[in-house]
Amino acid sequence: MKKHSILIAGGGSTFTPGIVMMLLDNMDRFPIDSLKLYDNDEERQAKLGRALKIVLTEKAPQIEFEYTTDPEKAFTNVDFVFAHIRSGKYRMRELDEKIPLAHNVVGQETCGPGGIAYGMRSIGDIVELIDFMEKYSPNAWMLNYSNPAAIVAEACRVLRPNSKILNICDMPVGTLRRMSQIVGLTPEDLEVKYFGLNHFGWWTSVKDHKGHEYLPEIRDYVAEHGYLTKVEVDTQHMDASWQATHKKAKDLLAIDPRFLPNTYLKYYLYPDYVVEESDPNYTRANEVMDGREKNVFSAAKRIVDAGTSSVGEFNIDSHASFIVDLARAIAFNTHERMLLIVPNNGAISNFDDDAMVEVPCIVGNDGPEPLAQGNIPMFQRGMMYEQVTVEKLAVQAWIEHDYQKLWQALSLSKTVPSAQVAKELLDDLVEANKEFWPELKRPDKKYG
Ligand code: NAD
Ligand code: G6P
Ligand code: MN
Repeated sequence: MKKHSILIAGGGSTFTPGIVMMLLDNMDRFPIDSLKLYDNDEERQAKLGRALKIVLTEKAPQIEFEYTTDPEKAFTNVDFVFAHIRSGKYRMRELDEKIPLAHNVVGQETCGPGGIAYGMRSIGDIVELIDFMEKYSPNAWMLNYSNPAAIVAEACRVLRPNSKILNICDMPVGTLRRMSQIVGLTPEDLEVKYFGLNHFGWWTSVKDHKGHEYLPEIRDYVAEHGYLTKVEVDTQHMDASWQATHKKAKDLLAIDPRFLPNTYLKYYLYPDYVVEESDPNYTRANEVMDGREKNVFSAAKRIVDAGTSSVGEFNIDSHASFIVDLARAIAFNTHERMLLIVPNNGAISNFDDDAMVEVPCIVGNDGPEPLAQGNIPMFQRGMMYEQVTVEKLAVQAWIEHDYQKLWQALSLSKTVPSAQVAKELLDDLVEANKEFWPELKRPDKKYG
């Protein structure tokens, strides 16, 4: 089997050690001979890089390992770039969550005003990564799971339409695992139909390979417990706030019991509840900084201080093995069926061709071939059209430096009650994001 060369962009991410451990665990399916980390925060990345150097020297000395902040060194001679950067880091995630909450609006990493603000920071950074990849390793593929994936994917469609970048999300993977637990199977036993946008979609079928439909059985369970299951797998989705999200899926199901909902729909269908449940002084960013970030970085420090990894501080993020599935599908033409964020082009027949949608695709060495999902009902189509327009307006606002379009994007978001609130919120977001966003051209005063 050919050995591949991997670059992880966002080397300082809390997910990096788990993904490296997962790669080591998958060497029989996807052997690698070189692994590099790249980040633009040298100090943060080095904390993990030093520890991973020790781990790799002990566990897989045959893999060449390097961490760097130099794009040329990082992006030269790689087959795949796994991208998980967070533009603005947790400091800005915290503001994405807290600024909207101060206006009694949903404060969330990828949904509503917070997601739009994060999108406006991410577009330029992702495009920069694509350009580095194309300059130094023109044949490489980027597997991107940096958020907000919906806005990032739309920006790639518009700005880099021919680039080899695939946008993928782990939420459908994680929820499918829960569905499989509900019916006593494994995710590999099941095949799904699904339509929507990223963090905004519905399963219309969950079958085993013989064709037995499990959706009714799963629906009965979700109507009572949401996606909370007895068998829990250790991912970030175990934290209490995520458990509440899995549970809330029962109320998402109630509004259209034909389909199984993505948990992220709670931010659009129950925004008042979400605001009510949120602590405006302690949001998910605080939970993550006090939890996952501390744990991962203190594990790294223990390894570096001891000079050995024998105590097994870094956990394998087996949940992330979908990234290996995707890389394998491209590298070895496996024709694996996976949900990806791709241009619609008829996959959902009654939806716009130029919308970035999340649908099942067959993935081979040319990339994804989306599978037709047919017509979708009016309710879902209406919600999706509103949301995809928010995403498109945000991307246009970034490209054209257009304040008015960004105000329209916020006003159109189902999470924001009025254009007035949208404007007040936008002005706070502009101020908070000064170092990251392009300077926006203000609208003509005459109409203000
Ligand atoms: P993190 O802040 O710990 O890590 C992100 C890293 O990216 C940081 O080390 C930061 O310095 C670096 N970075 C920021 N801008 C950069 C740039 N322009 N170039 C290079 N490096 C840059 O964040 P995290 O919580 O570990 O999450 C990482 C990313 O993965 C986020 O975008 C998150 O939303 C995403 N994520 C996505 C999924 C999914 O399903 N799509 C799942 C989990 C996490
Ligand atoms: C899910 C989503 C990701 C998101 C993550 C946030 O996995 O699919 O897109 O980044 O949750 O998790 P966190 O633990 O950082 O809140
Ligand atoms: Mn996601």
